[in-house]
Amino acid sequence: MHAITKILFLCICSLTSVKSQAITGCPTTSFDRRLKVWQHGDKLYFRCEDGYKPLSKGWWGEATCVHGVWSGVESCIEEQKCREAPEIPNGEGILGNTEQHGQTQEMIFIDCNEGYSAKIEELTCRDGRWDLNGSLDDICKSNHDNCSPPPKVENAVITTCYRKQYPSRSEVTYQCFDNYIMEGKATINCIAGEWKELAIKCLQIPPCGIPPALEDGDTKTAIKEHYSHNETIEYMCQSHYIMEGEPYKTCLYGEWTGHMRCLRPCIVNEDEMRQHNITLKSSGTKYLVHDEIIEFRCTRGLSTGTVAMRQRCNSGVLVLPTCRE
Ligand SMILES: *[C@@H]1O[C@H](CO)[C@@H](O)[C@H](O)[C@H]1NC(C)=O
Ligand SMILES: *[C@@H]1O[C@H](CO)[C@@H](O)[C@H](O)[C@H]1NC(C)=O
Ligand SMILES: *[C@@H]1O[C@H](CO)[C@@H](O)[C@H](O)[C@H]1NC(C)=O
Repeated sequence: MHAITKILFLCICSLTSVKSQAITGCPTTSFDRRLKVWQHGDKLYFRCEDGYKPLSKGWWGEATCVHGVWSGVESCIEEQKCREAPEIPNGEGILGNTEQHGQTQEMIFIDCNEGYSAKIEELTCRDGRWDLNGSLDDICKSNHDNCSPPPKVENAVITTCYRKQYPSRSEVTYQCFDNYIMEGKATINCIAGEWKELAIKCLQIPPCGIPPALEDGDTKTAIKEHYSHNETIEYMCQSHYIMEGEPYKTCLYGEWTGHMRCLRPCIVNEDEMRQHNITLKSSGTKYLVHDEIIEFRCTRGLSTGTVAMRQRCNSGVLVLPTCRE
């Protein structure tokens, strides 16, 4: 097997050498005028004059005469200019120019093949070299591990910009619309080309109906038929009534939460006082708000002592002391 390969190889080699020997007569003029040449048989060795370099590579080159034409002969470019676009694995570099500060800047625009995406969008020419930070292999990277845009979730949006490709290990976060509540994890990750842990759902939160009435009180604002989740309504009590608890109710998951009560005032009744043989210690209002203190004195006799002469109004209830002779 090995021997056969060797023989074949030898045959091809001898054939080519026979061929090239047969060719003569390539022109010695019409080269780039900045090209310095030295001809030897059907070979031409060349370099560029100072301040110039061959277009493709190195500082000298070799051309061969094939069918009356020099094959491999190059033109010269200025030393500080960039050469042709390099071969970019899995993509292509397109030569172009941009204007920068009134100067023409040579550029290579990167165009990656299908299934690859560009890590670098363009290369610039600097001091006669394509300014490449890293390897040419790193320009067009395979999309194999990339994820396509994350899937739609009903009643949700994603809080980062839309992209066609998401690199491995990138993450996106969903956000439910108002009045929807999230079930599952909001953030998903791109792992080996797939979005992982997509278990998110946005469930509608039921609204609340008319807020409950408050005894001896009312809402501060006009009421509506429906309230959304987290909406709050403020209550107040009638005058002389005192509120116990925070004045707010909140619609949470379709239910009104928050508790308050309007505590009644006490009214001091003249007739009742007369019956108990008492009167007010000092003339004052006959309306007491909850928790207010009032003091009585006897109109006849002495206090029976079972009820103190100082009393506190407790949610509309006021206990009267009694005096007797
Ligand atoms: C070159 O690449 C390295 C890492 O890859 C980066 O930190 C640096 O900023 C790059 N330099 C330029 C000029 O882009
Ligand atoms: C409810 O409202 C509070 C403050 O207004 C806010 O911080 C909270 O995130 C809201 N919750 C929901 C589930 O909308
Ligand atoms: C008020 O005083 C009179 C006279 O002493 C007495 O007869 C009456 O019982 C007293 N009232 C009460 C409720 O004790």
